[in-house]
Amino acid sequence: MKLQGNVALVTGSGRGIGKATSIKYAENGADLILADIDAELVEKTAIEIRKIGRKCVTVNLDVGDIESIDNMIDVANREMGGIDILFNNAGVTKHINFFDITSEDWDRINTVNAKGAFFCMQKIAKVMVDQGRGGRIINTASIAGKGYRRASNAAYAASKGSVIAMTYICAGYLAEYDINVNAVCPGVVKTDMMAGILSGRSSDVGVNTEELESTVTSEIPLGRVNEAEDIANLVVFLSGPESRNITGQSYNVDGGMIMH
Ligand SMILES: NC(=O)c1ccc[n+]([C@@H]2O[C@H](COP(=O)([O-])OP(=O)(O)OC[C@H]3O[C@@H](n4cnc5c(N)ncnc54)[C@H](O)[C@@H]3O)[C@@H](O)[C@H]2O)c1
Repeated sequence: MKLQGNVALVTGSGRGIGKATSIKYAENGADLILADIDAELVEKTAIEIRKIGRKCVTVNLDVGDIESIDNMIDVANREMGGIDILFNNAGVTKHINFFDITSEDWDRINTVNAKGAFFCMQKIAKVMVDQGRGGRIINTASIAGKGYRRASNAAYAASKGSVIAMTYICAGYLAEYDINVNAVCPGVVKTDMMAGILSGRSSDVGVNTEELESTVTSEIPLGRVNEAEDIANLVVFLSGPESRNITGQSYNVDGGMIMH
C-alpha cells in the first residue's frame, strides 16, 4: 500500500491506460479523482475503484478547456481535500495521412494533448505548492514524440514532443517545491485508441487489421505489444516513494522500439 494517504487525479480515466492506472493506484492505497470527457465511461471506472475499497469522485472534464480544468480542481479541493499525484493522461488521435492533416485536426489534437496537458500541470502544481507537501506529476507522452515512424499523424507527434519538452522544463521549475515531473512514452498499447488507429490505417493502405497488427508486432524487438497495465506499472512506480529522486525523465515502455 505504498500510495496510502495520497489523492491521485487521473485525466482520461474512463478507459485504456487511464483506467488501468486508476485501478492500480487504488490497489496501492490511493484515493482518486477520476476525470474524463465521457461521463458514462468514468462512472464505470468509479465502480471498480469503490469495489477495491478506495474513495473516489468523478468529474466531467474537457482537458482542452481551461474553465473545465478549473472546475475539476475546485471539485478536487472540495471533495478530496487536495491533490498529491497528477497522472496527466487524457489524449486524442486518429490515423491521418501527412498530406491530409487539416488546421482543425492540428488544433484539436494539440489543444487536448499539449495545451491541456500544460494547463493541468501548471494549475495542479499550484495546488501542490500551496499544500506544501510536494507532489508527483506523470505526463503521458508517446514514442511518437521521439520519432516513431508509424506515429498516427504528424500533429500528434508534435503534441507528444511538446509533452516531453514541457516535462523537462516543468521538472526544473518545480524541483524546489519537491514536485517530481516525469513522462511515460508508450509504444503500441492495446486500447480503443490503438484499435481506431489500426482500423483507420488498414482501410487507408488496403491491408486488413490483422496483417497490419502482425507487421507492427514484428517490428517490436521484444516481440509483444503493451497491455495498458504495462504502462500503469511504471506510472505507479513514478508516483511512489521508490522514485523520490527521479525527475525530468521520459521513459519508453515499448518493447525496445525506440532506444533513446
Ligand atoms: N494506445 C496507445 O498505443 C498509445 C501509445 C502512446 C501514447 N498513448 C497515449 O496514452 C494516453 C491514453 O491513451 P489510451 O490508449 O488509453 O486512449 P483511449 O482513447 O483508450 O482513452 C483515452 C481516454 O481519454 C478520454 N478523453 C479524450 N479526450 C478527452 C478530453 N478532451 N478531456 C478529457 N478526457 C478525454 C477518453 O474519453 C478516454 O476515456 C493518451 O494520451 C495517448 O495519446 C497511447
